[in-house]
Amino acid sequence: MARPTRVEITEVGPRDGLQAEPKFVPTELKIKLINDLVDAGVKRMEFSSFVSPRAVPQLADVLEVLNGVDRSKGAVLAALVPNVKGAIRAAEAGVDEMIVFVSASESHNKKNVNRTVDESLAGFAQVAKIAEEAKIPVSAAIATSFGCPFEGNIPAERLGYVAKHFVDFGFKSVALGDTTGMATPPLVTRNVRYLKEHVPSLPIHLHFHNTRGIGLVNVVAGLDEGITHFDSSFGGAGGCPFAPKATGNICTEDLVYLMHEMGIETGIDLAKLMKIANIVEEALEHPLPGQVMKAGPRLDLHSMGDVQTAVG
Ligand code: COA
Ligand code: ZN
Repeated sequence: MARPTRVEITEVGPRDGLQAEPKFVPTELKIKLINDLVDAGVKRMEFSSFVSPRAVPQLADVLEVLNGVDRSKGAVLAALVPNVKGAIRAAEAGVDEMIVFVSASESHNKKNVNRTVDESLAGFAQVAKIAEEAKIPVSAAIATSFGCPFEGNIPAERLGYVAKHFVDFGFKSVALGDTTGMATPPLVTRNVRYLKEHVPSLPIHLHFHNTRGIGLVNVVAGLDEGITHFDSSFGGAGGCPFAPKATGNICTEDLVYLMHEMGIETGIDLAKLMKIANIVEEALEHPLPGQVMKAGPRLDLHSMGDVQTAVG
């Protein structure tokens, strides 16, 4: 299949990037980061989560963040919603989009939201009604889509089972989440083809973590299957607090750099992203894994006078 010439990148840094960070990022800074991301050309963002503030204290300020950001530019501000209570809060707050999430594996779903997969799905039927009344679109995500750190391999049929419920609920897309970086290019190809065949009406997004260093390779495998929607996080920050050894998402600057070098449009300004990633790194007080944020794009040239000559 011909690779797409344009992709839509959903910035998940304010949510996935920050949710496991021990140091609370001040609300004012979160607001600035979101505004800066929109200014850089980001059109859709996971800006926070309506989850239990006890489970994820970092995102307890979701309402203040939403009320503080500049929404005049029309970027879609989406929030994660785990259950009915989350949907009620999100509808009252007036988010642009809700994103429900459930794991492909029972064990991770239990760890993450303290219920079975079918219990999560039953709740989503009600979430769908609440969202419809509030005229808010809902998209969905399946965590541990490419493998579970407790259970191992996930059959594609499992994704099909969950995704068919999403179609019944009227959800607009499914993101296959690679919570602990267990995806490989052959698994990406397999899962995308399976869902395209068995749940053809549901657009697929890919949500990779770079835990084993092949996140961007997995993106290319997705492009080869015609996928045009990818999630990524500023500086490669992030990880699920309820999965062992979880590390950050693929990095937005690195992804945007790769897309542009491959002639694929993103509509996002790389230089602005690099500035944002460096602000995040400073705020979190530890190095982020992003690489282009440090090295710059390949044609960022240097003066010869800046480097010593090897002599002797
Ligand atoms: N937002 C805020 N508070 C919520 C909530 C929500 N969406 N859902 C439940 N709560 C509150 C309840 O009101 C209750 O509060 P109380 O003790 O003051 O009465 C408390 O949380 C427990 O409610 P319960 O329904 O029994 O939830 P639980 O303890 O089984 O936890 C979740 C379930 C889903 C709320 C919790 O596991 C969670 O927030 N998980 C989020 C995980 C996450 O964000 N992971 C990263 C993304 S992949
Ligand atoms: Zn994630």
